[in-house]
Amino acid sequence: MRVLLIGSGGREHALAWHLSRSRELEQLYCWPGNPGTALLGENIEGEYQDPEILADWARKQEIDLTLVGPEAPLVQGLADSLARRGLLALGPGREGARLEGSKSRAKELMQKAGVPTAAHQVVENLEEVEDYLAENPAPYVLKADGLAGGKGVLICEDREQARREAHSILEEERFGSAGKKLVLEEFLEGREASLLALCAGGDFLLLEPSRDHKRLLNGDQGPNTGGMGAYSPVADIPPGEKERLGQEIFRPLLQCLQQEGIDYRGVLYAGLMLTPAGARVLEFNVRFGDPETQALIPRLRSDLLPHLHAAARGKILAEPLQWKEETCLCVNLVAGGYPGSYEKGQAISGLEKVNPSTIIFHAGTAYKGGRLITAGGRVLGVTVLAEDLEAARRQAYFEASKIEFRDKFYRHDLGRE
Ligand SMILES: Nc1ncnc2c1ncn2[C@@H]1O[C@H](COP(=O)(O)OP(=O)(O)O)[C@@H](O)[C@H]1O
Ligand SMILES: [Mg+2]
Repeated sequence: MRVLLIGSGGREHALAWHLSRSRELEQLYCWPGNPGTALLGENIEGEYQDPEILADWARKQEIDLTLVGPEAPLVQGLADSLARRGLLALGPGREGARLEGSKSRAKELMQKAGVPTAAHQVVENLEEVEDYLAENPAPYVLKADGLAGGKGVLICEDREQARREAHSILEEERFGSAGKKLVLEEFLEGREASLLALCAGGDFLLLEPSRDHKRLLNGDQGPNTGGMGAYSPVADIPPGEKERLGQEIFRPLLQCLQQEGIDYRGVLYAGLMLTPAGARVLEFNVRFGDPETQALIPRLRSDLLPHLHAAARGKILAEPLQWKEETCLCVNLVAGGYPGSYEKGQAISGLEKVNPSTIIFHAGTAYKGGRLITAGGRVLGVTVLAEDLEAARRQAYFEASKIEFRDKFYRHDLGRE
């Protein structure tokens, strides 16, 4: 099979790492890929821009399956552009991608499907915000409707703060057109987890539960980031519970999408809050998670490629996925200053000291004059498999300490239950 993988992060390196071991793979292209994927397939230079250009290229190269890593190309309609040329893509078309591209749309679908989620209201002006604040207790959860690069959700302790934030989004257009609408929702408490499923029409195949760590600092403090690390499995979602959540969340949602004429073929990611009253869906993403994928992929015993290919054709294979019992933990090494401003171009050293069983997923790296340098906020994902979470923590942190670059930073408490 000739596969094209879109994206350049740790998630894409993890997918490329898995695909490169598949018996069914004939050729792997990564657009644009990174130094990690360059060792596993052929990187295509240039940032992803126009879905039509990319789809033309895919047709010329006789690509059998395009896997789309990040959400933006899906929201822009890349899967539709490929489909118009008779090419298969794993990832929904523009309509299906609105599940992630518009939080109000996701809420509407969840309500219609009866998927458990926080109570909410959609508002478009400050008067409506004021009414909501008068009727509901603090803390307040404000969500910009559109894509805001993981920065569009604000938790406000009191009305004054909620007013200020609402003003900056609705009036000062802090998130541009992504903030034309706001979703105001009930504040939920609990631990978070991610449950992903490979979906095709009304059918789905659950992946293993995982947990990412979004906040920058130990103890879940500090600003939200693109992810400081992740692990799988998650003790709070035992196997029976995972199946139950599948029936409670994915089954009705996919049915609802079908009723609306949306044939969803791709990965659907449910971000969950495990509250004392049960799991609630915080959001849906229309793709693999980053860094959850880095913690899931190494646990796979089965070849995922035939499953991905089948889903893109509208089928879920009867054969279940086999997973290793071990725990996988991925610790992201980030550049000092991230998620704010940070330096790029720092030399990376120590990779040769890492134990061969440790997987290093590249995220923000580049080669310059034959040397590996930092080229992004999230630089490398140090990933280990071990018999349990504690052993995985020990091993991952030992390995993480061997890699050096100026102002290297990482969390030290990932996977602490
Ligand atoms: N209703 C809620 N109650 C409490 N915390 C929430 C709620 N909704 C979101 N959050 C917090 O904000 C984070 C980001 O919200 P999410 O809906 O996942 O949006 P995005 O990932 O697009 O920023 C969540 O991971 C969670 O920590
Ligand atoms: Mg989220």
